[in-house]
Amino acid sequence: MNYLGIDLGTSGVKGVLFDKDGNIIDSYLIEYDIISIKDGYAEEDPIVWFNSTIEVLKYFGKKKYEIKGIGISGQMHGLVILDKNDKPLRNSIIWCDNRTDFEKQIIEKDLGFDECKKITGNIPMSAFTLSKLLWVKNNELDIYNKIDKIMLPKDYISFMLTGDFLSEYSDLSGTQLLDINKKDYSIEILNKYNIDKNKLPKIINSYDIRGYIKKDIENIIGLNNVYVVGGAADQAASAIGSGIINSNAISISLGSSGVIFNPCDDLKIYPKGELQTFIAGDNKYYNMGCTNGFGTSLKWLRDQQFNMKYDEMTHLAEKIDCGSNNLYFLPYLLGERTPILDNDAKGVYFGIKNTTTKGHMIRALMEGVGYSIKDSYNMLDKKIDYAIISGGGAKSKLYKDIIASMLNLELKETNKETGALGAAILAMVGGGEYKNIGDAINNIVKYDDSTKPIKDWTIIYNNGYKIYKEIYNSTKHIFKEIK
Ligand code: XUL
Repeated sequence: MNYLGIDLGTSGVKGVLFDKDGNIIDSYLIEYDIISIKDGYAEEDPIVWFNSTIEVLKYFGKKKYEIKGIGISGQMHGLVILDKNDKPLRNSIIWCDNRTDFEKQIIEKDLGFDECKKITGNIPMSAFTLSKLLWVKNNELDIYNKIDKIMLPKDYISFMLTGDFLSEYSDLSGTQLLDINKKDYSIEILNKYNIDKNKLPKIINSYDIRGYIKKDIENIIGLNNVYVVGGAADQAASAIGSGIINSNAISISLGSSGVIFNPCDDLKIYPKGELQTFIAGDNKYYNMGCTNGFGTSLKWLRDQQFNMKYDEMTHLAEKIDCGSNNLYFLPYLLGERTPILDNDAKGVYFGIKNTTTKGHMIRALMEGVGYSIKDSYNMLDKKIDYAIISGGGAKSKLYKDIIASMLNLELKETNKETGALGAAILAMVGGGEYKNIGDAINNIVKYDDSTKPIKDWTIIYNNGYKIYKEIYNSTKHIFKEIK
């Protein structure tokens, strides 16, 4: 029997079909773009997500594949609000949107920094769903008053497919609406902001079956009797697909964002929110660091400046020596998440000379996003034995060499579709193919390639990282002033 993992990402939705041993049978991707009508704004249209998902499902239906179950992995923290006819009231304000600094401050004032941390596991976060919801209340009251349902991106897709109004822990704990200790919505937060619990999804496990695809949709997509399970936040799904469930290893996923993910058995909350803390389900938690501008930075350079293909860009960068002739890049085009948590931070090229070429600019950018991952990695106060690397960035040997050398850590690889595989594994467990996630991982996830640090580069990057920090520390006040 086959299982479909759907990865609802920032730049597109991808369906990957796996057999029960995790072999990829087929895949199909539909791309879309972030809508940015103002500096720092990042929105996407839930209807575009859904229509794209239907196209993906139709592809598999047309090919007459047998599919038993579907799991969805979704971009985190986005706000989807529906009216009483279940129509989206506005575009989704997505994870990397940067407009909600004021709302974050309100949460901090209302709940208190420490109390917010104690309840939700995280300091008040402008990136999380609660800030986005309060922004709608503060700026679009007529829309806010029409809200009948509040949900996360992947849960909207599932809601449209099956009619369920459900969510699960890995994604919900990134909303700042959940009490991380009680593993339920925080009554204190709902009361404080007058949020009706009935407008929020009921909570299930990631591997629980939500429901079956509605008949009218089955007819359109040409699939029969297919269930959808709870699914997971994209980073949690990717960690499952990478086989990362123990705390001595991390997964690094290089997509639009760059993320380090470390599972843990005990709840660990970072004092200043240097890393984030979420519930993984089944008595596990995860700490996570996220740089907003991983893939988005190179995409910006490609689309807005160079108009080249990614392959041509990395080819130019490969010819440049490690350290980019002392050109530095801060990848804070959309502000930055962990560990600096600075919405006002901006992108910077530092050290341009008359000899600086396109190749230097590309390599410096790749090194800059690498430093931003190192910045989060350095916050983990435990010994990490290895990392599993995945996502679009993991296709580039240069990125892998840079990151392995910066972190001085071996990077292993499994199949490239870790998010979709993680989601499909949840569907396998939900349908009884495996007794639990660990059992599925033992049978499915195999590691092939590995990248080891390059000694000379590690030395150069240890020094370069100090300069990278110095550039940020000496410019951050300017960005606070000029906005
Ligand atoms: C994680 C985060 C991003 C999105 C991207 O906290 O915001 O990784 O999930 O898909």
